[in-house]
Amino acid sequence: MISYRCYSIAILWFLALNNGGLLLLSNGGTTSSFIRNEEKSIDMPFDSDVFHAPSGYNAPQQVHITQGDHVGKAVIVSWVTMDEPGSDTVFYWPQDSTQKNQTKGQMYTYKYYNYTSGYIHHCTLKNLEFNTKYYYEVGVGHTTRTFWFVTPPEVGLDVPYTFGIIGDLGQTYDSNRTLTHYEMNPVKGETVLYVGDLSYADHYEFHDNRRWDTWGRFVERSVAYQPWIWTAGNHELDYSPPIGEKKPFKPFLHRYHVPFEASGSTEPLWYSIKRASAYIIVLSSYSAYGTYTPQYMWLIEELPKVNRSETPWLIVLMHSPWYNSNTYHYMEGETMRVMFESWFVKYKVDVVFAGHVHAYERSERISNIAYNIVNGECTPVHDQNAPVYITIGDGGNIEGLATYMMEPQPKYSAFREASFGHATFEIKNRTHAYYSWHRNVDGYAVKSDSMVFFNRHWYPKNESICQT
Ligand SMILES: *[C@@H]1O[C@H](CO)[C@@H](O)[C@H](O)[C@H]1NC(C)=O
Ligand SMILES: *[C@@H]1O[C@H](CO)[C@@H](O)[C@H](O)[C@H]1NC(C)=O
Ligand SMILES: *[C@@H]1O[C@H](CO)[C@@H](O)[C@H](O)[C@H]1NC(C)=O
Ligand SMILES: *[C@@H]1O[C@H](CO)[C@@H](O)[C@H](O)[C@H]1NC(C)=O
Ligand SMILES: *[C@@H]1O[C@H](CO)[C@@H](O)[C@H](O)[C@H]1NC(C)=O
Ligand SMILES: *[C@@H]1O[C@H](CO)[C@@H](O)[C@H](O)[C@H]1NC(C)=O
Ligand SMILES: [Fe+2]
Repeated sequence: MISYRCYSIAILWFLALNNGGLLLLSNGGTTSSFIRNEEKSIDMPFDSDVFHAPSGYNAPQQVHITQGDHVGKAVIVSWVTMDEPGSDTVFYWPQDSTQKNQTKGQMYTYKYYNYTSGYIHHCTLKNLEFNTKYYYEVGVGHTTRTFWFVTPPEVGLDVPYTFGIIGDLGQTYDSNRTLTHYEMNPVKGETVLYVGDLSYADHYEFHDNRRWDTWGRFVERSVAYQPWIWTAGNHELDYSPPIGEKKPFKPFLHRYHVPFEASGSTEPLWYSIKRASAYIIVLSSYSAYGTYTPQYMWLIEELPKVNRSETPWLIVLMHSPWYNSNTYHYMEGETMRVMFESWFVKYKVDVVFAGHVHAYERSERISNIAYNIVNGECTPVHDQNAPVYITIGDGGNIEGLATYMMEPQPKYSAFREASFGHATFEIKNRTHAYYSWHRNVDGYAVKSDSMVFFNRHWYPKNESICQT
């Protein structure tokens, strides 16, 4: 059951309370008063069940997959072996076949302070059939392990597809709850849009990179079977000159490969993919985005390439949110917003997912692009060409919840709550998508915040008007 929120009720309430006097910070939405557990989240200890290495000499571990090309006909399979390099080969076969195909990948290692990584393998399976279940096998001899994935349907206009959205997961008991809720949700996500901050290994002294390994083993139960689309967060920087680590993103870039070249990007930190009826653009909040920088030059060329007759849904992922009314990380996304927001409005982005703030928030469709230094027009306004901004950095990491909100709730904020959870985005056809956020303290099937999305290109109606 989808619940509908009525914007006009909030407006009437605001008028009654404030007599219309306060323009900038008038209450436009809902701050959930839900009472949650205020205990600090703690990391699961090294000997936790979810971190157990698979048995057998040199057994492949930390197996994960992501999309391997621009359209969904390729998959990057990655894994780590600890004892010796082992085999680079992946065997794979479609469900209804016994004939195994094989392809060879490449192996990498890195050092971080006094940590030496295992042998990290990346192998791209190409020319796969759409909409097909494949099995794949990694390792050799007694220690092979077999997994499976389902390729997406061919890119197209009315192709239904369901994404899960998770951010800032970390590896606490709460992280484990978030992942379990995602797995148990009756709305079955087929691919995870991951909005950054993975392992939080940098929380430990010398960025104890063994915590990158435990994270890889923890999430394997999902990401070995369905692709997670990676976005880099600040906890991927691992930038620490005092211990001689001056190259940003070193562990992350060695461990997580993405198909950036397929979208003409020159860096794995920003790229795009098409999947089913969605065009997904991933941006890097921690790479340069000023005029003439590589990311800027890529995005200015990228947006006009999106063909809404082919991929009606335009989704952007980034780590640091542009619209966030939490006191944590307030305005950190502002400089990137100033650079790119007018493009998002021009190209009618449907939704932007961000993480970073450890709470949940959904905005109205608003933009703030009229300002030109002298005209004073610096207040967000309702804008039906603008995306909805969703902050979902509430995966459950060790830093705990961000519970202090700006008061009163800004008018642009439709719903906010400091609880852990995940979301799903169910594309139905070119016009409709069902979105919902699920908090961990509720049952698996409970939707704590929902919205029916109307596609900005094909059905640009105002969703805030009460629907029945
Ligand atoms: C790295 O250095 C830290 C601090 O000196 C020490 O506790 C740890 O055991 C070392 N790790 C390795 C793999 O040498
Ligand atoms: C095996 O993989 C190669 C390389 O991707 C591909 O060209 C070929 O069509 C595949 N063969 C089968 C039988 O799937
Ligand atoms: C993590 O969650 C899984 C699935 O619910 C459970 O089997 C496992 O025991 C949990 N582990 C920890 C350390 O909480
Ligand atoms: C957009 O995609 C549609 C459907 O695939 C195609 O017919 C059309 O030619 C494309 N338009 C452009 C400008 O490429
Ligand atoms: C698109 O999906 C929505 C929601 O399921 C449905 O109400 C609508 O009729 C569908 N549109 C078409 C053209 O099928
Ligand atoms: C959308 O609908 C709401 C509720 O009726 C209204 O307050 C808002 O101004 C509308 N926005 C636009 C841009 O029409
Ligand atoms: Fe972050």
